[in-house]
Amino acid sequence: MSDEDFGEYLRDAIDRYALAQVAAKVCGPEDAKAVAVKTYEKLLPNGVGTHGHHLYNAFNAMEKVGMIWLAEQDRVRKTGFIYDVIVVNALRRRGIGLAILRAGEGMARLMGLETLRLHVVGDNFAARGLYRKAGFGEASVVMVKELSDPIEQRT
Ligand SMILES: CC(C)(COP(=O)(O)OP(=O)(O)OC[C@H]1O[C@@H](n2cnc3c(N)ncnc32)[C@H](O)[C@@H]1OP(=O)(O)O)[C@@H](O)C(=O)NCCC(=O)NCCS
Repeated sequence: MSDEDFGEYLRDAIDRYALAQVAAKVCGPEDAKAVAVKTYEKLLPNGVGTHGHHLYNAFNAMEKVGMIWLAEQDRVRKTGFIYDVIVVNALRRRGIGLAILRAGEGMARLMGLETLRLHVVGDNFAARGLYRKAGFGEASVVMVKELSDPIEQRT
């Protein structure tokens, strides 16, 4: 991925991450953008050149159809982390996400990794479906209850 592509990706990723943080009630809309910017600065201090992180565009012939971001998380345990998979909006639901994920798995094997992990927001049903179809299982589930909501009626 070029620096120019990365800039474009980062702008979109920050917006999506900020929205997801609000949806997951991690922070309010007023803080979400700053939290997102800080998170990406920490994760990718040197952009696409950050050690151990691999951001690839996916092409079908000459057409850019999506991307994947794979990182070597723990060399000792040979674990990798998939930070993102995106398919161009108009091309979704045609098997491209699965193909990109499979290609990412292939690269992870070449890197000597034995396990892949990832995090997905609970209401991202498309991504959860994709990961399940690719053979990922749930390792933990974070549950949230908003205490400022009205007290539920006891039956
Ligand atoms: C998640 C995403 C990458 C899926 O890409 P895609 O090319 O549409 O996925 P595929 O066509 O390969 O679908 C594979 C499976 O995923 C599931 N899936 C994909 N989109 C779905 C949707 N909208 N609703 C429910 N399940 C869905 C299905 O099980 C599908 O298999 P099926 O078509 O045989 O039913 C795409 O929706 C996307 O780019 N979303 C925005 C970015 C994002 O949220 N990425 C994940 C970050 S954790």
